Amino acid sequence: MKVAVFSTRPYDREFLDKANDESQAGHTMFYLESRLNSHTAHLANGYDCVCAFVNDQLGRVELEILAANGTRFIALRSAGFNNVDLDAARKLGLRIGRVPAYSPDAIAEHAVALILSLNRKIHKAYARVREGNFALEGLLGFDLRGKVAGVIGTGKIGLNVARILHGFGCEVLASDPFETPELAAIGGRYVPLDELLGRCDVISLHCPLNPDTHHLIDRTAIGKMKHGVMLINTSRGAVMDARAVIAGLKSGKVGHVGLDVYEEEEDLFFENLSDQVIRDDVFVRLMTFPNVLITGHQGFFTGEAMTAIAGTTIDNITAFGRDGAPLHPVPPERQG
Ligand code: NAI
Repeated sequence: MKVAVFSTRPYDREFLDKANDESQAGHTMFYLESRLNSHTAHLANGYDCVCAFVNDQLGRVELEILAANGTRFIALRSAGFNNVDLDAARKLGLRIGRVPAYSPDAIAEHAVALILSLNRKIHKAYARVREGNFALEGLLGFDLRGKVAGVIGTGKIGLNVARILHGFGCEVLASDPFETPELAAIGGRYVPLDELLGRCDVISLHCPLNPDTHHLIDRTAIGKMKHGVMLINTSRGAVMDARAVIAGLKSGKVGHVGLDVYEEEEDLFFENLSDQVIRDDVFVRLMTFPNVLITGHQGFFTGEAMTAIAGTTIDNITAFGRDGAPLHPVPPERQG
């Protein structure tokens, strides 16, 4: 198939070309650095497949342009599909594929890296030692053993986080509308969300973004938490209300925040903006706190995960070309 790949970075090209070669799929890949939006959608004119990433816009307007220009299939290089207007896609006869699981370990390990770095202030210690400053004031952490950790969303990633934190000796509490017996098998237990919010020292978010989870962590939810709680978000930015988190940080109610995602990240992440003025005041305010650690949506970024993303993306495109349906359709045939 002829594939227009949006939001391409050199590493995307490297892994996709390798998967295309190794599977001998023979797809014609057209790599674009641009993000997909209403201004760039026409660049896919004549391409029967469009390959898109998390911050590409696939709303009704973009989908109409793509469909009018001959696109029939959209291969997402992500698990989440909150950026796609599914209703418009269905009406336009566009099929969507995704990568449901590439390396839940990669994101889970990144969430735990944020917890450990924030707790032991590795980000501050690194800078201090390089300056010849070996003072320990301000670097006091806490033992994770014996602490209560909360996992919101016990899908593939959340279960891995639960398993790792249980291994550290934490009591693991979880909340998910679809409970799985796998949680008990790794030593965790489900509790009502309010109990989780009220009892946990560390809370990590692993639910998808949907109307039910939009701003799940807002002022009310933060009000129910323990003083000094650590909040970790590697799911989607809008699951947290960043303004409420800032208010919590200012009052001391929120003791640490680790973010790999941000609600307005599409104007920031995956770009080198180091010589530009960042205009998002909420994001800049977040960066001023000493107890906030932000990474730019890199949870997925391991060699294993990139190999799996590229392999499944090429397999989805091949299956669509052969059967008219991807291996992993959106919406998923079974959601849980
Ligand atoms: P998954 O689909 O395996 O699990 C999601 C879980 O959240 C399911 O068990 C579902 O029942 C649960 N859930 C749904 N609504 C909920 C609610 N209101 N409260 C609590 N739980 C709820 O998804 P997976 O693979 O574990 O990924 C989780 C999220 O991580 C994705 O949706 C995506 O947004 C994010 N992600 C982030 C990446 C990164 O690089 N930072 C990379 C990949 C995914």
